[in-house]
Amino acid sequence: MLLTFLYKFARHEYVGISAAWDRTEPLTESTSLVAKIGLYHLCEEFGHMRLFQEILRTFHLDPVEWVPLGKWMSRMYRLFPMFPEAMLAPPAFVSELMGLTVYQHIDGVLDDILADEPEARERVRALLREVMTDELAHVGQRRNFLGPLGLRAAHLMVESMYRAFFRDIPETRLLFNVEQMVRDGKAFDYGTIAPEMLEKSWVPSYCKVSS
Ligand SMILES: [Fe+2]
Ligand SMILES: [Fe+2]
Repeated sequence: MLLTFLYKFARHEYVGISAAWDRTEPLTESTSLVAKIGLYHLCEEFGHMRLFQEILRTFHLDPVEWVPLGKWMSRMYRLFPMFPEAMLAPPAFVSELMGLTVYQHIDGVLDDILADEPEARERVRALLREVMTDELAHVGQRRNFLGPLGLRAAHLMVESMYRAFFRDIPETRLLFNVEQMVRDGKAFDYGTIAPEMLEKSWVPSYCKVSS
């Protein structure tokens, strides 16, 4: 069930990033630094697909195919990148945050679900933490493009976006505590992230707590 969930979650990512990639302008001499960062960010997301594939391969699920989503979902992902940046920034931030929440919760159930498969558990955990390190940086990067209004909008969107998304993946409520996921999303704080991960990732300077 955990692998089914992971597959479905990763498939959403794949469809979302493929749609964003299709709308991305190629790099030129005059590409702005911000657009370049956005492109690298997207490339990292494609790198995650390799890591997900590797997780599935750990369980001998080699020939996994990323089957397209249903008509409406695919359409939504195609429409999404067409909105102006100001409208896109809050939901884009929330979707990065949701990724981070999901990976934290997967990490939290690994010991239990893979108790009798210690090697697989450690391998999955190592791969997952690679993905989380990037997602943590993406949360910070997206945070940079939210003004006070965008931040308020994002905060209001967390609950409905999380619930709508998880409703589409019925395995979620059987594996995880959805209420806790919503609470974690709303109360996100860098203080909850392990220092080793913060060290490898990137956090906006204004979000760092000086000690
Ligand atoms: Fe991602
Ligand atoms: Fe991301």
